[in-house]
Amino acid sequence: MSRGRLDIVPAVSDKHSQHKSRYTVDRQIPGAFEGETVTRRRFMTGTTHAAGAIAAASFALPALGFAIGPIFKEAPHTWESAGPTDMFPDNNYIPTVITLTPGIGEAGKGTVYVRQRNPAIDTDKADRDTLYIAITSRCAHLGCPVRWVDAAERFICPCHGGVYDLLGRRVGGPPVRPLDRFYTRVVGGMVQIGPRYSVNSELERFSPRDPGEPIDGLGQYMYPSRPSARKL
Ligand code: FES
Repeated sequence: MSRGRLDIVPAVSDKHSQHKSRYTVDRQIPGAFEGETVTRRRFMTGTTHAAGAIAAASFALPALGFAIGPIFKEAPHTWESAGPTDMFPDNNYIPTVITLTPGIGEAGKGTVYVRQRNPAIDTDKADRDTLYIAITSRCAHLGCPVRWVDAAERFICPCHGGVYDLLGRRVGGPPVRPLDRFYTRVVGGMVQIGPRYSVNSELERFSPRDPGEPIDGLGQYMYPSRPSARKL
Protein backbone atom coordinates (compact mmCIF):
# COMPACT_ATOMS: atom_id res chain seq x y z
CA MET A 1 0.00 0.00 0.00
CA SER A 2 2.79 2.48 0.91
CA ARG A 3 4.55 1.60 -2.36
CA GLY A 4 1.52 2.73 -4.41
CA ARG A 5 1.60 6.20 -2.80
CA LEU A 6 5.27 6.60 -3.66
CA ASP A 7 4.48 5.90 -7.35
CA ILE A 8 1.99 8.80 -7.56
CA VAL A 9 3.98 11.62 -5.88
CA PRO A 10 6.82 11.95 -8.46
CA ALA A 11 4.28 12.09 -11.35
CA VAL A 12 2.53 15.21 -9.89
CA SER A 13 5.85 16.86 -9.08
CA ASP A 14 7.03 16.42 -12.73
CA LYS A 15 3.94 18.10 -14.08
CA HIS A 16 4.47 21.24 -11.99
CA SER A 17 8.14 21.49 -12.77
CA GLN A 18 7.52 21.38 -16.52
CA HIS A 19 8.55 24.77 -17.98
CA LYS A 20 6.50 26.29 -20.77
CA SER A 21 8.78 27.92 -23.35
CA ARG A 22 8.17 31.59 -24.18
CA TYR A 23 9.02 30.93 -27.83
CA THR A 24 6.16 29.94 -30.09
CA VAL A 25 8.46 27.67 -32.09
CA ASP A 26 9.16 25.60 -29.00
CA ARG A 27 5.44 25.33 -28.34
CA GLN A 28 4.94 23.69 -31.75
CA ILE A 29 2.59 26.47 -32.98
CA PRO A 30 2.12 26.06 -36.77
CA GLY A 31 3.80 28.80 -38.82
CA ALA A 32 5.76 30.12 -35.84
CA PHE A 33 8.87 32.18 -36.52
CA GLU A 34 12.24 31.77 -34.94
CA GLY A 35 12.46 34.02 -31.83
CA GLU A 36 8.75 34.85 -31.85
CA THR A 37 7.31 35.20 -28.33
CA VAL A 38 3.77 36.48 -29.02
CA THR A 39 1.31 34.41 -30.97
CA ARG A 40 -0.28 36.06 -33.97
CA ARG A 41 -3.72 35.50 -32.47
CA ARG A 42 -2.76 37.38 -29.33
CA PHE A 43 -1.03 40.12 -31.34
CA MET A 44 -4.11 40.65 -33.56
CA THR A 45 -6.42 40.67 -30.52
CA GLY A 46 -4.30 43.31 -28.77
CA THR A 47 -4.06 45.42 -31.94
CA THR A 48 -7.83 45.30 -32.43
CA HIS A 49 -8.46 46.33 -28.83
CA ALA A 50 -6.00 49.21 -29.09
CA ALA A 51 -7.57 50.40 -32.37
CA GLY A 52 -11.03 50.24 -30.78
CA ALA A 53 -9.85 52.23 -27.77
CA ILE A 54 -8.28 54.90 -30.00
CA ALA A 55 -11.45 55.16 -32.10
CA ALA A 56 -13.66 55.47 -29.00
CA ALA A 57 -11.34 58.08 -27.46
CA SER A 58 -11.34 60.14 -30.66
CA PHE A 59 -15.12 60.56 -30.27
CA ALA A 60 -15.38 60.70 -26.49
CA LEU A 61 -12.50 63.04 -25.55
CA PRO A 62 -13.50 66.02 -27.74
CA ALA A 63 -17.11 65.73 -26.54
CA LEU A 64 -15.94 65.54 -22.94
CA GLY A 65 -13.63 68.52 -23.38
CA PHE A 66 -16.42 70.52 -25.03
CA ALA A 67 -18.78 69.69 -22.15
CA ILE A 68 -16.56 70.34 -19.15
CA GLY A 69 -13.89 72.65 -20.60
CA PRO A 70 -15.82 75.89 -19.94
CA ILE A 71 -16.02 75.00 -16.24
CA PHE A 72 -12.27 75.45 -15.94
CA LYS A 73 -12.04 78.61 -18.01
CA GLU A 74 -11.54 81.40 -15.54
CA ALA A 75 -13.78 84.40 -16.11
CA PRO A 76 -12.03 87.77 -16.37
CA HIS A 77 -12.22 90.02 -13.30
CA THR A 78 -13.77 93.25 -14.47
CA TRP A 79 -14.89 96.36 -12.60
CA GLU A 80 -17.85 98.36 -13.73
CA SER A 81 -19.11 101.76 -12.58
CA ALA A 82 -22.46 101.70 -10.79
CA GLY A 83 -22.78 105.44 -10.23
CA PRO A 84 -21.40 108.38 -8.25
CA THR A 85 -20.80 107.82 -4.55
CA ASP A 86 -23.54 110.25 -3.44
CA MET A 87 -26.14 108.29 -5.39
CA PHE A 88 -26.28 105.52 -2.79
CA PRO A 89 -27.80 106.07 0.69
CA ASP A 90 -26.93 103.87 3.66
CA ASN A 91 -30.51 102.94 4.55
CA ASN A 92 -31.90 101.76 1.23
CA TYR A 93 -30.78 99.88 -1.87
CA ILE A 94 -30.52 101.46 -5.30
CA PRO A 95 -30.96 98.97 -8.18
CA THR A 96 -28.17 99.26 -10.72
CA VAL A 97 -27.85 97.43 -14.01
CA ILE A 98 -24.38 96.16 -14.84
CA THR A 99 -22.90 93.71 -17.31
CA LEU A 100 -22.54 90.32 -15.67
CA THR A 101 -21.58 88.33 -18.78
CA PRO A 102 -19.62 90.37 -21.34
CA GLY A 103 -20.03 89.80 -25.06
CA ILE A 104 -23.69 88.77 -25.22
CA GLY A 105 -25.35 92.19 -25.20
CA GLU A 106 -28.47 92.88 -23.17
CA ALA A 107 -28.82 89.22 -22.19
CA GLY A 108 -25.60 89.52 -20.19
CA LYS A 109 -26.87 92.37 -18.02
CA GLY A 110 -28.32 92.02 -14.56
CA THR A 111 -29.46 94.06 -11.58
CA VAL A 112 -27.29 94.64 -8.53
CA TYR A 113 -28.65 96.32 -5.40
CA VAL A 114 -26.18 98.85 -4.01
CA ARG A 115 -26.11 100.96 -0.86
CA GLN A 116 -23.54 102.65 1.29
CA ARG A 117 -22.19 100.62 4.20
CA ASN A 118 -23.99 101.42 7.43
CA PRO A 119 -21.80 100.68 10.50
CA ALA A 120 -24.93 100.27 12.62
CA ILE A 121 -26.15 97.23 10.67
CA ASP A 122 -23.14 96.04 8.65
CA THR A 123 -21.25 94.63 11.59
CA ASP A 124 -20.13 91.36 9.99
CA LYS A 125 -16.50 90.66 9.23
CA ALA A 126 -17.07 90.60 5.48
CA ASP A 127 -18.35 94.16 5.46
CA ARG A 128 -15.78 95.91 7.61
CA ASP A 129 -13.34 96.61 4.79
CA THR A 130 -15.82 97.95 2.28
CA LEU A 131 -17.55 101.31 1.82
CA TYR A 132 -20.45 100.04 -0.27
CA ILE A 133 -22.60 96.89 -0.15
CA ALA A 134 -23.59 95.38 -3.51
CA ILE A 135 -26.03 92.46 -3.44
CA THR A 136 -26.97 90.31 -6.41
CA SER A 137 -30.55 90.01 -7.66
CA ARG A 138 -30.02 86.34 -8.46
CA CYS A 139 -31.83 84.10 -6.00
CA ALA A 140 -29.67 81.56 -4.16
CA HIS A 141 -32.29 78.88 -4.73
CA LEU A 142 -32.54 78.45 -8.51
CA GLY A 143 -31.44 81.84 -9.79
CA CYS A 144 -34.72 83.74 -10.35
CA PRO A 145 -34.42 87.53 -10.08
CA VAL A 146 -35.25 88.77 -6.59
CA ARG A 147 -36.75 92.22 -5.99
CA TRP A 148 -36.00 94.61 -3.16
CA VAL A 149 -39.25 95.64 -1.46
CA ASP A 150 -38.47 98.81 0.44
CA ALA A 151 -41.64 98.88 2.58
CA ALA A 152 -41.03 95.36 3.91
CA GLU A 153 -37.23 95.70 3.95
CA ARG A 154 -37.04 92.34 2.27
CA PHE A 155 -35.70 90.84 -0.94
CA ILE A 156 -38.54 88.72 -2.36
CA CYS A 157 -38.20 86.00 -4.96
CA PRO A 158 -41.33 85.52 -7.07
CA CYS A 159 -40.56 81.95 -8.13
CA HIS A 160 -40.83 79.85 -4.97
CA GLY A 161 -41.33 82.40 -2.23
CA GLY A 162 -37.73 82.89 -1.14
CA VAL A 163 -37.40 85.82 1.28
CA TYR A 164 -34.20 87.57 2.40
CA ASP A 165 -33.68 90.31 4.98
CA LEU A 166 -31.97 93.68 4.61
CA LEU A 167 -28.52 92.05 4.64
CA GLY A 168 -29.51 89.40 2.12
CA ARG A 169 -29.82 86.60 4.69
CA ARG A 170 -32.48 84.00 4.02
CA VAL A 171 -35.48 84.39 6.31
CA GLY A 172 -37.98 82.23 4.44
CA GLY A 173 -38.52 79.83 1.54
CA PRO A 174 -36.20 77.29 -0.06
CA PRO A 175 -32.94 79.25 -0.73
CA VAL A 176 -29.94 77.46 0.75
CA ARG A 177 -27.76 80.47 1.56
CA PRO A 178 -27.82 84.29 1.64
CA LEU A 179 -27.78 86.35 -1.54
CA ASP A 180 -24.35 86.66 -3.13
CA ARG A 181 -22.45 89.94 -3.05
CA PHE A 182 -19.95 91.82 -5.18
CA TYR A 183 -16.68 93.45 -4.22
CA THR A 184 -16.89 97.23 -4.47
CA ARG A 185 -14.40 100.07 -4.66
CA VAL A 186 -14.45 103.80 -5.23
CA VAL A 187 -12.45 105.20 -8.14
CA GLY A 188 -12.67 108.87 -9.15
CA GLY A 189 -15.83 109.46 -7.12
CA MET A 190 -17.58 106.49 -8.75
CA VAL A 191 -18.66 103.29 -7.04
CA GLN A 192 -17.38 100.31 -9.01
CA ILE A 193 -18.73 96.77 -8.88
CA GLY A 194 -16.21 93.96 -9.14
CA PRO A 195 -16.17 90.17 -8.87
CA ARG A 196 -18.97 88.28 -7.17
CA TYR A 197 -18.52 86.28 -3.98
CA SER A 198 -20.82 84.09 -1.93
CA VAL A 199 -21.49 84.30 1.81
CA ASN A 200 -22.58 81.75 4.38
CA SER A 201 -25.29 82.36 6.96
CA GLU A 202 -22.67 84.19 9.11
CA LEU A 203 -21.96 86.45 6.12
CA GLU A 204 -18.40 85.13 5.85
CA ARG A 205 -16.96 85.36 2.35
CA PHE A 206 -16.47 82.36 0.06
CA SER A 207 -15.52 82.05 -3.58
CA PRO A 208 -18.64 82.31 -5.76
CA ARG A 209 -21.00 79.37 -5.89
CA ASP A 210 -23.93 78.61 -8.16
CA PRO A 211 -27.57 78.83 -7.05
CA GLY A 212 -28.71 75.87 -5.01
CA GLU A 213 -25.27 75.21 -3.54
CA PRO A 214 -25.13 75.55 0.25
CA ILE A 215 -21.96 76.82 1.92
CA ASP A 216 -22.61 76.17 5.58
CA GLY A 217 -20.97 73.09 7.09
CA LEU A 218 -19.95 70.38 4.63
CA GLY A 219 -21.58 72.26 1.76
CA GLN A 220 -18.46 74.38 1.25
CA TYR A 221 -16.52 71.19 0.43
CA MET A 222 -19.26 69.37 -1.46
CA TYR A 223 -19.90 72.31 -3.79
CA PRO A 224 -16.54 73.84 -4.69
CA SER A 225 -16.49 77.01 -6.75
CA ARG A 226 -16.17 76.81 -10.54
CA PRO A 227 -13.33 78.99 -11.91
CA SER A 228 -15.78 80.33 -14.51
CA ALA A 229 -18.33 81.36 -11.85
CA ARG A 230 -16.69 84.68 -11.14
CA LYS A 231 -19.32 87.32 -11.77
CA LEU A 232 -22.60 85.91 -13.04
S1 FES B 1 -35.64 80.64 -7.37
FE1 FES B 1 -35.97 81.98 -5.70
S2 FES B 1 -37.08 80.81 -4.29
FE2 FES B 1 -36.75 79.46 -5.95
